[in-house]
Amino acid sequence: MTTPSAPPAPNAPFGSVFASTMVVAGWSDGEWEEPRLGPVEPFSLHPATHVLHYGSACFEGLKAHRGTDGVVRVFRLDAHVRRMRTSAEILMLPVPPAEMLTRMVLDVVAACLDEVPAAPGSLYLRPTLIGTVPNIGAAAVPSTRALLYVIASPVGDYFAGGVRPLKLALETVRPRTTPQFGMVKSGANYVMALGPTMRAKQELGADQVLFAPGGIIQETGAANFLMIDPHHVITPALNEAFLHGVTRDSVLTLAADLGYEVDQRDKLTVDDLVDWASHNDAEAALSGTAAVLAAVGTLVLDGEELAVGTGGVGDHTLRLRKALTDLHIGETDDPHGWLTPVTSG
Ligand code: COI
Repeated sequence: MTTPSAPPAPNAPFGSVFASTMVVAGWSDGEWEEPRLGPVEPFSLHPATHVLHYGSACFEGLKAHRGTDGVVRVFRLDAHVRRMRTSAEILMLPVPPAEMLTRMVLDVVAACLDEVPAAPGSLYLRPTLIGTVPNIGAAAVPSTRALLYVIASPVGDYFAGGVRPLKLALETVRPRTTPQFGMVKSGANYVMALGPTMRAKQELGADQVLFAPGGIIQETGAANFLMIDPHHVITPALNEAFLHGVTRDSVLTLAADLGYEVDQRDKLTVDDLVDWASHNDAEAALSGTAAVLAAVGTLVLDGEELAVGTGGVGDHTLRLRKALTDLHIGETDDPHGWLTPVTSG
């Protein structure tokens, strides 16, 4: 059952359609302004603005889901607020107070309530923080002005073609990004993965690249990596080199709840993966707010294609994905207190 006003997810690429309202708060002289809700419209920025030259930017990606009971709930808001504060601190940007950022996200969702699509669509939320001082000399000093805003985008699937087994090219030399900044959710990390990803798409027909410098698995350009079988979920243990995914954490928690043995390895290697992939019941998946839990069917290593297990969308990947998406839409209990319901006004 969906409410009569629930729109379907737009038939447009993920993130290319925007909800009507955003919220903005400036920061200068060490103070945050009162956040202002208003229509989504372009900003005017001086060409010398800090973020345009020195990359002083971080963001978050989280979702509001419309439940089968019609109620809209934000998933793991606390965890995303925490991670954005960590990103801001590492990038020497002002750290937004948790209560203010939480309120900004909830206010945008409340203002866009009628624009939250019915499941499997959702409203993707993008809190963003940028350094705005107009000073091209400020290369070695933090921006003394900043802008925090939250925009929203009604979305469907991130990977075109819905639930299908993805093809991953293994990159065993280059890291995804600068190792000690991999855990920061900053645009620079994504653009660094872009060149290898585009080449792998064009040359190998791959959907994504799994970065594994020196044979040690990190993540893909936009999602964490997991190996799954009927009894185990195995993934690299957290370190500074890759994003500490909230969906990764959610899937690992739900997997443990369902009785899978969760193994976070300090060094998960390409050799481990190739050996794993050769077993019939092996599965692999990508996790992320955008990706949800997307099955991996094929690996490409040194130009050779290897199937993961049977090469299809694995039953246990689907089981874990359903555990997550059922929770998103209020179809199951929320034992970990991950959902924040939002009402209008
Ligand atoms: C997310 O999953 O929220 C991300 O930030 C990935 C992005 C490339 C859409």
